[in-house]
Amino acid sequence: MQNISVIGAGIMGHGIAQIAALSGYNVVLRDINHDMLEKGLQNIDRSLNLMIKSEKITETEKKKCIQKIQVKTNLYESVKESDLVIEAIPEVLSLKQELFQQLDEICPPETILATNTSQLSVTLIGSKVLRKEKIIGTHFFNPVPVMKLVEIIKGLETSEETLQTVQTFCHTIGKETVVCNKDTPGFITTRLLLAQRAEAFRLYEEGVATIEDIDKAMRLAFKHPMGPFQLADLAGLDTGLKALTSMEENYGERFKSPTYLKQMVALGYLGKKKGKGFYEY
Ligand SMILES: NC(=O)c1ccc[n+]([C@@H]2O[C@H](COP(=O)([O-])OP(=O)(O)OC[C@H]3O[C@@H](n4cnc5c(N)ncnc54)[C@H](O)[C@@H]3O)[C@@H](O)[C@H]2O)c1
Repeated sequence: MQNISVIGAGIMGHGIAQIAALSGYNVVLRDINHDMLEKGLQNIDRSLNLMIKSEKITETEKKKCIQKIQVKTNLYESVKESDLVIEAIPEVLSLKQELFQQLDEICPPETILATNTSQLSVTLIGSKVLRKEKIIGTHFFNPVPVMKLVEIIKGLETSEETLQTVQTFCHTIGKETVVCNKDTPGFITTRLLLAQRAEAFRLYEEGVATIEDIDKAMRLAFKHPMGPFQLADLAGLDTGLKALTSMEENYGERFKSPTYLKQMVALGYLGKKKGKGFYEY
């Protein structure tokens, strides 16, 4: 495996492109929005500079990494030589299904098609493709260069060979893996994360504690590096609202989103990426 394509240059996509390129893969980062590609490259540059500062990489490694990344808007040009495509576009089933269908038509037959979905069904995302044994979930975590884990999700028809190839890829880019054997909503990690976040939202809604104190409690009592509100801001409140709504559809009331979250998203307070969410940045 040499050529990786990452579709979507947002919060997750640029990070995935960065770590794959750092490990020597040829990477094409594709977005439909040219500005997002520019922003993605700027974010990669910033992240690599931080890595130099903390002596994780050298200037030369940074240079090599950047040379390994091409950015494109044309889908065919982005994936025509790809061994592995990792999709990181918004968490909307119909969008992902449409993209996977296009990928199935234009990628070489041996290309593996992976999705970075945090909770949608991997099997449904790939339900319209012919190569169902080559569909898999690769759930990276934010920020990608820092977080050690990739949660791998087996779709109903994912082959053992695809699973092993993707596991090896993840290990070569310095990640640890866990395998979710059943393609159930939220897999392992999102189900645990959102159960905790929904409870934190309820604590605040009921006036039990402030946002700051709920976050502080999780940090200091349980050694979480961030509290649930801080993490929600980092991941994007729009993404978070969609995630909770979808989990509520599958598991009921325990994942219900509070009214104030819907209002914040409607007002464009989407968290760190917009400068304002539960906190100001
Ligand atoms: N944000 C997180 O913390 C996080 C963590 C784990 C997984 N995820 C998952 O990763 C995926 C991406 O999330 P994100 O937060 O990076 O989203 P984002 O909104 O930051 O970025 C999505 C990007 O996809 C682009 N896009 C939309 N349609 C496209 C298409 N057809 N082709 C190419 N590009 C397209 C958009 O222009 C945008 O730049 C989602 O499935 C999300 O659930 C997100």
